[in-house]
Amino acid sequence: MVPKTTSILFVCLGNICRSPLAEGIFAHLAESRGIGGEFRVDSAGTGAYHTGERPDSRSIAVASNHGVKLYGVARQVTHGDFTDFDVIVAMDRSNRRSLERMRGHGAYNGRTEIVMMRDYDPERGNPDVPDPYYGGPHGFERVYRILERCCDRLLDTLTDKQCCEPR
Ligand code: 4NP
Repeated sequence: MVPKTTSILFVCLGNICRSPLAEGIFAHLAESRGIGGEFRVDSAGTGAYHTGERPDSRSIAVASNHGVKLYGVARQVTHGDFTDFDVIVAMDRSNRRSLERMRGHGAYNGRTEIVMMRDYDPERGNPDVPDPYYGGPHGFERVYRILERCCDRLLDTLTDKQCCEPR
């Protein structure tokens, strides 16, 4: 039997800082657990301001410092994403509101779950992954650490689910 692949879309506002970092970290952690092939990951932005751009150089730098490569160019969330992905992970409450609004405008099958990244943070406090765009490199390191904790827990949750549900 072909194992089921879980598809995950990470979403922030611009798709140049937080969500490409989350995508890269998640893929890296899954690879290091030897289960990279069980997931399809992508990222997108609720806004179109940076469409076609590579991730912010500060995200690329902080990822690289931790041995993580970032792929892809920015794109906006599409209506098709709500049926193409099993899970959409929003970085903050504003992203989630935008996603829910977008989903409400289409005829979707309701299969895709929208979740909040920081619901997976074992050190939970702030419900949002802070937007580091207007800050310095320290903000990017802080966001990296938050995302690493959250992606690790998200992987735990998804792998538990997979082993307990029929494929
Ligand atoms: P991101 O960060 O949502 O984490 O990619 C931002 C990038 C760009 C802007 C805002 C946030 N912007 O306003 O251009």
